[in-house]
Amino acid sequence: MSVPAKLSAWWLADPASPVRIGEVHLLPGQKHCVFAFNGEIPASWISPHPLNARNEWLPLGDRGLPPFLEDCCPDRWGQLVIRKIEKPARLAPIDYLYMAGDGRFGALGFSADDSRYIPCESSPALPLESLEEIDTLIRRIRAGEKVDERQRRLIRPSKTLGGARPKTQVVIDGTLWIAKFPQADDPADIGLVEYASNRLQIECGIDAVDCDIKRIPSGHVFLTRRFDRVGNARLHCVSAKTMMLAQDASLEDLYSYLLLADGLRTADSREAKNGCRELFRRMIFNALMDNTDDHEKNHSLVLHDGQWKLSKSYDALPQLTGLGAQAMSIGSAGTTVDMANMLSAHARFLLKEKEARSICCEVAKQIDSWKALFAGHGISSADIETIEQFVDRGDLLSIRRDIRRSFAGVDCSVQEDASPPTGRVAPPRG
Ligand SMILES: Nc1ncnc2c1ncn2[C@@H]1O[C@H](COP(=O)(O)OP(=O)(O)O)[C@@H](O)[C@H]1O
Ligand SMILES: [Mg+2]
Repeated sequence: MSVPAKLSAWWLADPASPVRIGEVHLLPGQKHCVFAFNGEIPASWISPHPLNARNEWLPLGDRGLPPFLEDCCPDRWGQLVIRKIEKPARLAPIDYLYMAGDGRFGALGFSADDSRYIPCESSPALPLESLEEIDTLIRRIRAGEKVDERQRRLIRPSKTLGGARPKTQVVIDGTLWIAKFPQADDPADIGLVEYASNRLQIECGIDAVDCDIKRIPSGHVFLTRRFDRVGNARLHCVSAKTMMLAQDASLEDLYSYLLLADGLRTADSREAKNGCRELFRRMIFNALMDNTDDHEKNHSLVLHDGQWKLSKSYDALPQLTGLGAQAMSIGSAGTTVDMANMLSAHARFLLKEKEARSICCEVAKQIDSWKALFAGHGISSADIETIEQFVDRGDLLSIRRDIRRSFAGVDCSVQEDASPPTGRVAPPRG
């Protein structure tokens, strides 16, 4: 398949009425693209970055695409599927952008046709019943084995998605969900661990994605309802990376929760307090639960009524590596997980110190009973033992104890031993 050096770009908030919003041009040299905007909708709806004087968005630094276009491209998994299934004649950023097709993250679409939105060919998302077959197909693709035309059609809906883990799109009760598959080298039944972590986040007061699980022979498939689709409408989204680069375009790898909180304050002054509080809560959860994969693409923002708000929390589970350092800075001492650092920048989150301590306390209290909750969701004792090694390791355990002991005046009255969680504990499905 070959892709032209110019694509038309479309706003698909109402996919029945696509609005043409500009063009993407591949520059000579084939490595960089420019977005030429036509002003049909407010520019701030598309990206938190300002346009340049020629009404363009340019890639930053050595990157191939303006940041918001990177967000609607596939990452490692989707790119692998594109290479295998579409067999592109060229591998420039515009090729991946186009070949991701109509299922992409957010509300943008791209077409080789100038006058009509005609996305790159894909296949419809599949029913839940096909998960087992897709799991086998994923293994074939990862092993570099040949796939036939029917298998090509089956795997196509997965080419559009971000992230590194194998995944695809499925339809459940008429709505679109993402299905994440187990991998042979997973240190535990990761689908089930992601599910239980999601339930624990909810216990901690975090607005986490709607999710479910389905058992297949190789483990559990984690299912998450797409938050960028509401009925037939599409909600536009950008990653936290894009929002942080809009705050400071010179950023290299110095992403931080603090800068993301600055972005939330700039983007939505009415809701800033709630957004920053929620972000702080997620940061504490990630730090105390060994989720050190909390990088700049594992947070997103959704456009609601012209304002950027934090999306639901996704991809938050223990990484089972015990790094003791988050992927983004959490305070004035960088990524290091300790109490002083976690509290050091409370004002950037619009929190008084006492409020920040109270959030730490609420989260730590729930995390103290993670084991009972995880067991209630069917996680095996062997997996619990593996997780315990990291989540209940000395430094994290003593931070949780310190939080409870030192935060006088805050309701931290929690039992020393793990007890059953307060919320619903449903047996795993499927
Ligand atoms: N529930 C969801 N709704 C919409 N988009 C999602 C949802 N969950 C994840 N995504 C998008 O898909 C990408 C990959 O998902 P993620 O769970 O992070 O997978 P991985 O474990 O491979 O990193 C995310 O970066 C985000 O852009
Ligand atoms: Mg991810």
